[in-house]
Amino acid sequence: MPNDTINCAEPANPRHIAIIMDGNGRWAQKRLLPRAFGHQAGVKAVKKIVEYCAEQKVEVLSLFAFSSENWRRPEEEVSLLMSLFMATLQREINNLDRNNIRLRFIGDRSAFPSPLQKKMAEGESQTETNDALTLVVAINYGGHWDICQASQKVLDKIMSGQLDSTKISEQLINQHLSTTDLPDPDLFIRTGGEQRVSNFMLWQLAYTEMYFTPTLWPDFNQKALAEAIKSFKSRQRRFGHTGEQILNKSVTL
Ligand code: IPE
Ligand code: IPE
Ligand code: MG
Repeated sequence: MPNDTINCAEPANPRHIAIIMDGNGRWAQKRLLPRAFGHQAGVKAVKKIVEYCAEQKVEVLSLFAFSSENWRRPEEEVSLLMSLFMATLQREINNLDRNNIRLRFIGDRSAFPSPLQKKMAEGESQTETNDALTLVVAINYGGHWDICQASQKVLDKIMSGQLDSTKISEQLINQHLSTTDLPDPDLFIRTGGEQRVSNFMLWQLAYTEMYFTPTLWPDFNQKALAEAIKSFKSRQRRFGHTGEQILNKSVTL
């Protein structure tokens, strides 16, 4: 929700970038390789983008790694993705920690094998106090799930008498979403050419600037991200105000 002062002087960098990393399968298919190769190449792209965001002092980078709908894929692909997450975590947690990056997961993790759940929790606690980039990995995440789980928490509080049922507000719902302590995304990027949100952060994207590119995720590099940030900076965000209000003075939202 917008709660900042708009400064007209200098276009600000996005504080929070949220990315749907799409196109791994097609990247592999184009090379006549099995889809697995595309997912492996996708992990390499993640590494470069995380490094660049840290360099650029982006506060939060959210990556959609596995949606609540991705369970519908062939069993073989799902299990390959699970192994890839595990292997990547085992390899990268210390690296992230060394670079002062805080790792966070959002999504329903109860569906994962317990060694993976354990590794995720370890990664979060090991990097908890890091204060450079926050890397949010959305895994078994869906925007519908997020709103449902927030509603459940609110209802539980009402039922136990901790909360008055007349006190439901946007701020209250926001406080119970999985992204509670994070700013909403400023810039949304989807690679792979599709122009849809596919159940990513539905609530949080209310005022996010959208950027779609045909580049397949494994080919998305620092230059491509710089291009997306440039496009973001060229836009006028109005949050309901008129363009003149934004141009003429600082508006407090
Ligand atoms: C995104 O790439 C990665 C995941 C959903 C895990 P895809 O696997 O969806 O790639 P395409 O869309 O089939 O090319
Ligand atoms: C969205 O990509 C989910 C992730 C990138 C993790 P999909 O490839 O699953 O999206 P749809 O099904 O084409 O909308
Ligand atoms: Mg896809």
